[in-house]
Amino acid sequence: MKSRISRRNFILGGSAVVAASAMPGIPGTPFSSPVSLMRSALAQDVIPKPDSVIRMNANENPWGPSRVALRAIYAAIEEANLYSFLTNDMKALMSEQQDIGVEHISVGSGSGELLKMGGLLASMQEGSIVVPDPTFEDLPRYAENAGTDVIRVPVSRNMDTDLEAMASAIRSDTKLVYLCNPNNPIPSIIEKNALRDFILEVSRDRLVFLDEAYHEFVDNPDYSSMMDLVREGRRNIIITRTASKIHGLAGLRVGFAYSHPDLATEINNKLTGQLNIIGMRAAMASYQDKEHSNFVLRTTKESLDIVESYLREAGINHIKSNANFSFIETGHDIEEVQARFLTENIQVGRPFPPFRNWARVSMAKPDEMRYFVQTYKKLYG
Ligand SMILES: Cc1ncc(COP(=O)(O)O)c(C=O)c1O
Repeated sequence: MKSRISRRNFILGGSAVVAASAMPGIPGTPFSSPVSLMRSALAQDVIPKPDSVIRMNANENPWGPSRVALRAIYAAIEEANLYSFLTNDMKALMSEQQDIGVEHISVGSGSGELLKMGGLLASMQEGSIVVPDPTFEDLPRYAENAGTDVIRVPVSRNMDTDLEAMASAIRSDTKLVYLCNPNNPIPSIIEKNALRDFILEVSRDRLVFLDEAYHEFVDNPDYSSMMDLVREGRRNIIITRTASKIHGLAGLRVGFAYSHPDLATEINNKLTGQLNIIGMRAAMASYQDKEHSNFVLRTTKESLDIVESYLREAGINHIKSNANFSFIETGHDIEEVQARFLTENIQVGRPFPPFRNWARVSMAKPDEMRYFVQTYKKLYG
């Protein structure tokens, strides 16, 4: 009975993916072609090893840019001889979409540049920063390399960002507190009321840098963006977002920071990256195309359902995802897990110490995640 149900789900899920892959402009992979899906569905549900490696290691968007963005990219190639000069247009669009004045906005070469800017601002005077551990390392690593003490505050026993412990870790010389919501590599969120109180308190005396790279993926009533605090004109708060994730433009490097106009001016004056015309055109097109984002959201959820329902069924500990990746306690050293998956043409995330027995797995396309589950069962089931 159980296998009949799972077979039926497999076929239904498969046909949904076939329809999605056949959407014009949504690039498929050889692996996700309708032919291979049909073949695999008919052959006792065994999905053949794909011809090339599936990237489940960098939280990328497996679908690529939207059709609309691709058109903008092709057209912008003709303008590759030009400096971009499009920052003001980009800011005007984000201002309209986020309902915030252009004077609050910075545009960076990916949000990575803006994260490093946070690290730089904190390092301009001697002192320390406080960050959760583990978390996304761009800002802390940059600050550390610039000579700042990085105070790493372990996540709580249930793997949540521990605000109380972070508040206690703040020293009088702490210049900045970094929060990542949802966090990475642990896709947990910070409860919205506790987060607001924390930011309001901490930002009185120091910078709070809130990284919302995965904001668009969150579907959780306990979550809220803190953009309204910046909109209200509060000081000492920087919020970053990115075109790399739901918009699938990681390779073109476009990201945004929102902060008080004085802080935004300081950031803008210090940025060192150059925005490129292809990235700008692509992002401007993509942010006006809701259809693709909705498609990515829907398929990411489908992928997460495939993986998380297997993990639940098999009793494998994992953190319920609020983003486009999973964090799974495999019980095996991550380097061994990486190597074994790679022999099956799946690349999973790098080690995130001290969580040596956990794997971060980025959501690829739903049929690719079915192959992941099949491989997981084969290797460790
Ligand atoms: C939490 C978080 N913030 C920021 C980034 C950087 O994104 P980008 O520099 O592509 O905007 C990433 C990338 O994986 C991330 O996971």
